[in-house]
Amino acid sequence: MANENLGGPRVRANAVWSLQQITEHQRTLDWIIANKASWLETPFGSQLIYGTVRHYYSLATLIEPLLEKPLRPKDKDLFHLLLVGAYQLLHMKLPAYASINETVSACRLLGKNWAKGLINGVLREVDRQNKDKLASNLSNQNHPAWFLEKVKTQYPKQWEAICSANDQQPAMAIRVNSSKTSLDLYCEKLNKTNIQFSEARSEHGVILQEPVPSRTLPGWLEGEASLQDLGAQYAAPLLMNALSKDTNTPTILDGCAAPGGKLSHLNELLGNKFASYKLIAVEKDKKRLAVTRDLVARSQQGKIDNILFIEADSTKPTQQLQFKCDAIMVDAPCSGSGTIRRNPDIRILFDPIELQSKSKFQLRLLRNLWRSLRSGGNLLYVTCSIFNEENDLVVEQFLSEQADAIFENIDLPLGRATKFGWQVLPCDGPTDGFYYCQLRKV
Ligand SMILES: C[S@@+](CC[C@H](N)C(=O)[O-])C[C@H]1O[C@@H](n2cnc3c(N)ncnc32)[C@H](O)[C@@H]1O
Repeated sequence: MANENLGGPRVRANAVWSLQQITEHQRTLDWIIANKASWLETPFGSQLIYGTVRHYYSLATLIEPLLEKPLRPKDKDLFHLLLVGAYQLLHMKLPAYASINETVSACRLLGKNWAKGLINGVLREVDRQNKDKLASNLSNQNHPAWFLEKVKTQYPKQWEAICSANDQQPAMAIRVNSSKTSLDLYCEKLNKTNIQFSEARSEHGVILQEPVPSRTLPGWLEGEASLQDLGAQYAAPLLMNALSKDTNTPTILDGCAAPGGKLSHLNELLGNKFASYKLIAVEKDKKRLAVTRDLVARSQQGKIDNILFIEADSTKPTQQLQFKCDAIMVDAPCSGSGTIRRNPDIRILFDPIELQSKSKFQLRLLRNLWRSLRSGGNLLYVTCSIFNEENDLVVEQFLSEQADAIFENIDLPLGRATKFGWQVLPCDGPTDGFYYCQLRKV
């Protein structure tokens, strides 16, 4: 019987299967959460899967030279078992003999008892080395070559900090619902429940020192708090602050709404400021739209009468999108390269070839939604990408073809100005990377 604190062979085999799903079948960690939730139920199982994915490239760099000959393609699972073993030795504080024994025992569950000697030998070799030195030497080798090249070119001063931030676990950030309570009152409640936190550099944000299950947060059921990354909390205030002063009953469209974090935030801020307003939430994916409606209803405690949920394609000039809005949020689908800390599988799954099609798609979103903006109105273009191809370059192309569009300056507590907008990087603080650009219709 395996010691529960050390996990057993099963949890290691599950980690291997997860890596197989990601690398062989292009499944995401979100897919694993949706389909194999039980694998992530224990902190140990969750850490093993997320941690091995997070350190995939550096662990592979370590293991490859230790193999006398490369493993056959059909034995990729054994390669992954070695990564899972090496992750425990380098990054988890477990007794090495137990990590190695339990990892070797997982060979049986993979149907490959014959490989026990190989797994044992390679992991013992890793264990003989200076593991702290190894872990730090490998830290600059934990991204695919294309990523390193791109990030070095685009961020010659920050690339190392970005890579090292990507290897950390993400912070748990909370947005306090300003239509229900104040940041001060909520912080008092956190103090009373002994949840350690620091105030975030955003108007309604708090960063927890350690993650906790969301249902244990004070006021969770009453909609006093939502989970939202710090960088994402800048979007709604940016859009609101750029509303023209003569707007009394604004109509605002969120062109890519699911899962509704920024939409909820907008609803809170609009409700605080205007007696009457309309919020239009557009989403192409029917299931995601339904989930969004439920999530927003929870976080807004059912106060969603002002929100119109529409299933539509925001790149197409359909009848459904014939509005003249005061403001539009375009939180475009992108590479997610600013969220690698939160979604470590992106560095394995994202193919840079896709950047070209992503930027074309982002441009189509901008072109189409621009028609729904009234003259004098503002459009906030947002991505969670750090790549220029999805950010300033898309805006540059848009501005070159749209004579009635100008960009306006942005200034946020974190990040830096770019040619047309503002870039927050994952190394700027406990935040994902985001790009913001404010466009005005003149
Ligand atoms: C980055 S997410 C938006 C996140 C959201 N704004 C939030 O804060 O929770 C992008 C969303 O756009 C949706 N989407 C993709 N293509 C679309 C299209 N052509 N029209 C409308 N929505 C689309 C995706 O399904 C996804 O839910």
